[in-house]
Amino acid sequence: MAKPSIAQLLKKKQNKQKITALTAYDATFARLFSDCGVDLMLVGDSLGNVLQGHDSTVPVTNQDIAYHTACVRRGAPQAFVIADMPFMTYATVTQACEQAAQLMRAGANMVKLEGGEWLVDTVQALTTRGVPVCAHLGLLPQSVNVLGGYKVQGRDDAAADLLVHQAQQLEAAGAQLLVVECIPTALGERVSAAIDIPVIGIGAGNRTDGQILVMHDMLGLNSDYLPKFVKNFLSGNDSIEAAVKQFVDDVEQGRFPGPEHSFES
Ligand code: KIV
Repeated sequence: MAKPSIAQLLKKKQNKQKITALTAYDATFARLFSDCGVDLMLVGDSLGNVLQGHDSTVPVTNQDIAYHTACVRRGAPQAFVIADMPFMTYATVTQACEQAAQLMRAGANMVKLEGGEWLVDTVQALTTRGVPVCAHLGLLPQSVNVLGGYKVQGRDDAAADLLVHQAQQLEAAGAQLLVVECIPTALGERVSAAIDIPVIGIGAGNRTDGQILVMHDMLGLNSDYLPKFVKNFLSGNDSIEAAVKQFVDDVEQGRFPGPEHSFES
């Protein structure tokens, strides 16, 4: 299989083939996900929740992400790896460039930032300086204290229009990928059609260009609280490898997410 690249992900969107993505934080899982054909891995700041035991992603540092990015890179030298920029590490353009450099040096192919219009200059600065960017719209976990909780976004017309506009602005600024989190299915479809870059959804219905899940969620390891958009792929499978292969197959065939994992409005 050819080494995954942004060009290949773009081609998948153009050919209407679904993109598969999982979070990864260590070498062993990175190798397994790569062997199972997962298109891209995100070293998410969700590691604050699932590895560190925090109740949000806010405490995660750039050093944390750089450490886990290096682990993932060693486990999967050929994989397409995105590193999350943590809370307050890209508050200014200069800071974003310095912090992103650390993540690229640790082995990332791309960095991900949460936010809309205020990030246009930052995305422009990063991409013109050689750092590919994935934008992140919809529910922004780093802003949970402003949003007042983890809630579905873009439910009314004004909020939906704003999200589509922000996606277009970020694409024009140079973003090459977009993650959308917790939005209605129709908005997931609308934003995917409104921009040329691939749109990867989590809790955004089955009409985006691809799907991502937090690996602990898709293996059923967070039993306390499961968001509606999560499916436990280990249930009914006898190995982690089989669960991951089923996730890849279900996404590629359009079977996941189903209506029971989606927000219709
Ligand atoms: O940190 C993370 O795992 C993420 C996903 C929810 C997309 O940003």
